[in-house]
Amino acid sequence: MQLPNGFVLGAATAAYQIEGAVNEDGRGVSIWDTYSHTPGRILDGQTGDIADDHYHRLDEDLDLMARLGLDAYRFSIAWPRIVPQGTGATNAAGIDFYSRLVDGLLARGIRPMATLYHWDLPQSLEDRGGWANRDTATAFAEYAAVAGAALGDRVDSWATLNEPWGSAYLGYASGAHAPGRQNKVEAFRAVHHLNLAHGLATQELRGVVDAQAQLSVVLNVHSFRGVGPTGDEAREKLEAVANDAFLAPMFEGRLSERLLAMTEHITDWGFVEDGDLETICQPLDLLGLNFYHSSPVRMRQTPDTGAALPQHTQWPGAEDVEFLPKAGPLTEMGWNIDPAALTELLLGLTERFPGLPLMITENGLVLSDVAVDGAVQDAARINFIRDHLKATMAAIDQGADVRGYLVWSLLDNFEWSFGFSKRFGLVHVDYETQTRTLKDSARWFSDVISRRQVDE
Ligand code: FCB
Repeated sequence: MQLPNGFVLGAATAAYQIEGAVNEDGRGVSIWDTYSHTPGRILDGQTGDIADDHYHRLDEDLDLMARLGLDAYRFSIAWPRIVPQGTGATNAAGIDFYSRLVDGLLARGIRPMATLYHWDLPQSLEDRGGWANRDTATAFAEYAAVAGAALGDRVDSWATLNEPWGSAYLGYASGAHAPGRQNKVEAFRAVHHLNLAHGLATQELRGVVDAQAQLSVVLNVHSFRGVGPTGDEAREKLEAVANDAFLAPMFEGRLSERLLAMTEHITDWGFVEDGDLETICQPLDLLGLNFYHSSPVRMRQTPDTGAALPQHTQWPGAEDVEFLPKAGPLTEMGWNIDPAALTELLLGLTERFPGLPLMITENGLVLSDVAVDGAVQDAARINFIRDHLKATMAAIDQGADVRGYLVWSLLDNFEWSFGFSKRFGLVHVDYETQTRTLKDSARWFSDVISRRQVDE
């Protein structure tokens, strides 16, 4: 199977998951520092204090990327590294780190793709209400202008937010991610202020970055599969809270009617001010999609048992929906493997937003990889990536404009509340020695990139 000309192949990471060096060169504290240092939050009490020590191993990691022949590298900028208190004074040493990263990529012929926010909010902004506070959106726009002015002449593509679904609902509804709050109203305020932050930042970036640079947002548009007679109702509720909460304002300049109806008993959305939806709905060059799995769902079948609905889920307003067991084999994240859902998602987005270029900005598989004699056998990851590349090509054949595919992740790294227990990398990291070892999947992917071809 031949890959289209110009189809971008690469890998992705995020700042807090790989950088380490959390107290160095003027970096401010982020909500993930606070959260990971709170007992009981992260498996085995692990933190991103050192992680992959990427901050100190930048050149080695750039050389690795060159060795793999990546077309593009998607990284995130740690907001507290360049604006330590979230607004106000900037930190030259932090800017210099990302400037060296971008220059190092360009020197190796790799396209820099920057994400402004992959979940590491400056703690001082959280102390003032975090994403539940509207001021965080304006602070984000200010930070975007700083990053854009510093790197905008060299970065190929910018994403404002990574998976605002996680920031809002895991951060403020279920509490499974930083800052770990459990308050539905705050979660919806966070949804809106993240959307607003995206719109304001996109406006700022347009003013300062290279005219050729692509502006985008990265969403984990979820794939739900309705099961049985109540399946459609369940799917539609979840699509409203998980997908339309972001897609409708960002791409259609409206709030989802379904979401408003479902959340009536929680909030009247009075925090949405006149003009906000126009600000949020900015023309974009690309929609980045993070895709891992699908979920079978139906409405809960227990109305007369009196069982209380679960509280503090990451689906506020859709507590009456039931997630059914997924068909196996399941990955170590408990996720299923459903490449057909990726094809369907890409085609669904193409139908809804005709002409909108798409890119897979994350896709990958967790495995318990072990390095033995300088090698890591991970055939299952090769199969996974191959099948999802094929699923992407199938969507392209049916009319989707998909510009590229990035593997999550370049390196094994700090997998949020799971600490270092989940390995997603193309490259194995020994956390004791920081030794990097190419997995078989890295060698295979490198070959795919150079031949622009995937064997059947
Ligand atoms: C995504 C995140 C990324 C990583 C993968 C496994 O939701 O964006 O940081 O944790 O999942």
